[in-house]
Amino acid sequence: CDSPTLKIDDQATAEALMNAADLLRKGKCIAFPTETVYGLGADATSTVAVESIYAAKQRPSDNPLIVHVSSLGQLREILAPADPTTSTGRSDIPEVYDALISKFWPGPLTILLPLPTTNGPLSPSVTAEQPKFAARLPSHPIARALCHLSSLPLAAPSANSSGNPSPTSASHVLTDLQSRIPLIIDGGPCSVGLESTVVDGLRDPPVVLRPGGVSVEAIRELGGIWARTVISRAPLEDATDSSIIPEAPGMKYKHYSPRASVVLYEFGACVPRGKDLVRSPILSAKNLNGRVGVGILRTRTWEAGIGKLATDSLKFGSDAAKSESYGNKGVGEVNVIERDLGKDGEEISRGLFAALRELDDAGVDVIHVEGIEEVLEGLAVMNRLRKAASVVVRKVVE
Ligand code: TXA
Ligand code: MG
Repeated sequence: CDSPTLKIDDQATAEALMNAADLLRKGKCIAFPTETVYGLGADATSTVAVESIYAAKQRPSDNPLIVHVSSLGQLREILAPADPTTSTGRSDIPEVYDALISKFWPGPLTILLPLPTTNGPLSPSVTAEQPKFAARLPSHPIARALCHLSSLPLAAPSANSSGNPSPTSASHVLTDLQSRIPLIIDGGPCSVGLESTVVDGLRDPPVVLRPGGVSVEAIRELGGIWARTVISRAPLEDATDSSIIPEAPGMKYKHYSPRASVVLYEFGACVPRGKDLVRSPILSAKNLNGRVGVGILRTRTWEAGIGKLATDSLKFGSDAAKSESYGNKGVGEVNVIERDLGKDGEEISRGLFAALRELDDAGVDVIHVEGIEEVLEGLAVMNRLRKAASVVVRKVVE
């Protein structure tokens, strides 16, 4: 590593964790693994510390942060600082969340909670003027150890540069935030690979603001009010409808985007013939040098995956482009790199962000991704892919 201020610990030894907790207590922000993605955490009670997170990520200041805790006790100290339990002995965590918490915490679920009415401990910069705050009890032992050892609730967004795919390994964090932060703790690849599900259960019906590691189906299975859980409309899906105001402010920003342009094939869409692929605005803008790098992310959830079809049609398209003459802008050579994301939703979630980054590193101009059905993990996968995509192919009329 060429940064004098950056240190990566291969093993999260007790000493390394104590050192990390020390940095956190001094108001520094550091990167660490969680089960979903790597987080960039700092003391949620210190405005200076929280603002250093926004600065390191170059994140817009109107996009609030999730507060991470190591125990329900630590969460209660935020909700009722003077009196962690009420006289009835009940916590101030609203009762509606009992079922959700006992089933999914610790784990990839974030819940919205009421801000304490007077002088709560959280810095106002954490919530960015939202009326509620977001909290998560992660299952990753390193994330929890840091909250515990520092005795601090940690505000932590994903540890990527704003707009890039979220980091699922320490090397992704290094690529994005090199020299901007004092420490990255390397805990190996993340097991979930996509961010937590963000849920507001203080509304009836409850609303999933961001699909993620816990599926909406699993939440509905809890029954009661949770059986009626609805999914917030993602505003980016309909850019023409400016009346839709994002409920999780982060959802309005373009996200998860590699440098290459992403073309997403929705589940069930027909694959365009090669000529159309090559003529698409993205490809023709990129092929000035007569060389085009194409990445294909294949999933094996369709009867006939687009992987093979897209490869065939690209080959057809490049031949057609050469012979049909695009003036001097003909596609001379199409280099195709294919990656198989797998068949199972969990496997696809785990490898998606890493695959987008890998194709970027290989220098491709365009990435064709085969979408999956929006069930279980597929909902979060498609949410991220739609935000990454410049072109979504829903249906192609031959
Ligand atoms: O899995 C995760 O949630 C990861 C790891 C590090 O825990 N964190 C993460 O944080 O994805 P971030 O900042 O990248 O995304 C947080 C999302 C954003 O869409 C944000 O707008 C929303 O949660 N959010 C945070 N606080 C909120 C609040 N008070 N009200 C509404 N939405 C909120
Ligand atoms: Mg993020």
